[in-house]
Amino acid sequence: MTAASPPAISTEGLVKNFGPHRALDGLDLRAERGQVLGVLGPNGAGKTTAVRILATLLRADAGEARVAGHDVRSEPHAVRRSIGLSGQYSAVDHNLTGYENLHMVARLHDMSHARARERARDLLEHFRLREAADRPAKGYSGGMRRRLDLAAALVSRPSVVILDEPTTGLDPRGRMETWQVVSELVGDGTTVLLTTQYLEEADALADDIVVIDHGRVIAEGSSEELKSLLGGERLDVVAARARDLPALVSALEGVGSGEVAVDERSLRARVAVETGSRALIAAVRRLDALEVEVQDVGLHRPTLDDVFLTLTGRVTEDSGRAEESADDDGTAGTPSRAAGGR
Ligand SMILES: Nc1ncnc2c1ncn2[C@@H]1O[C@H](COP(=O)(O)OP(=O)(O)OP(=O)(O)O)[C@@H](O)[C@H]1O
Ligand SMILES: [Mg+2]
Repeated sequence: MTAASPPAISTEGLVKNFGPHRALDGLDLRAERGQVLGVLGPNGAGKTTAVRILATLLRADAGEARVAGHDVRSEPHAVRRSIGLSGQYSAVDHNLTGYENLHMVARLHDMSHARARERARDLLEHFRLREAADRPAKGYSGGMRRRLDLAAALVSRPSVVILDEPTTGLDPRGRMETWQVVSELVGDGTTVLLTTQYLEEADALADDIVVIDHGRVIAEGSSEELKSLLGGERLDVVAARARDLPALVSALEGVGSGEVAVDERSLRARVAVETGSRALIAAVRRLDALEVEVQDVGLHRPTLDDVFLTLTGRVTEDSGRAEESADDDGTAGTPSRAAGGR
């Protein structure tokens, strides 16, 4: 973690074209040893492409990538020995049982039969797959398959673990368990690169977050730093009646800084405010004077959803899922340049 030790993962100016389409456009990433780097980006941002290059499954057209000190291009074997990869698309052999899958991976890593057996058993236990150990993986539920895939990535105790959307499609319990595994890994000094569309996941796990879009980094920092890019708090008001919405907007225009975002469906209006409580009081006075009936009013700190929306102009797939952020739908304002100056 000192400035002197080389990063566990670094890419510089990675470019990857698929025909005329540029999937990566000069991507720079850096994960320090023992840290979690969260790579956040909308669909098609280039996350999986970057992961595949780091895992030596795909060659970049330009730029450099190093994993655990090894160049992906000139030392692919050393890179493969250092990493555990759990992909967006499972690498599990569905005809083999859970035990056989893990045993096979352990043998591929040159473990003796006895050690391979022990490692497979330990991991099956840890990932709550002991009962299902002797059933073919094709009969597993989606969550079980993801757990098996994650276990397979950890067989060799790699120093760098790359997880491409590890919790997509998992139920809340599966998600919490995966978070737990990631936390344990980091406790052991493992470096984790995690791509995700779930902002709460990046918020909960990542030391450092990069937001990418169109194959390029558009913002970087800790979760708190990214949130502070958006300035102060947000004042949120929900009107009781649709006809009050225009008056509500004009009231908020007077107290906030910047544009008022409106979601007509939920009758919600939101504006950034510099001095939260004072703006709240001023807003309530104005609304009262204008006889606007209010259903709900509140102040909140910007969430990562707000950051993502502001930077990419898009809501994430999960925004509608999380109750807190459901209100972001359709309130996209003008994308801000707040994070441009890297
Ligand atoms: N093998 C391929 N051939 C052609 N185009 C590809 C290929 N792989 C990726 N792309 C394109 O490159 C871009 C980046 O894709 P990538 O899969 O890296 O995005 P992503 O960030 O992982 O998206 P998602 O969140 O949907 O998984 C997309 O526009 C995609 O359509
Ligand atoms: Mg992907």
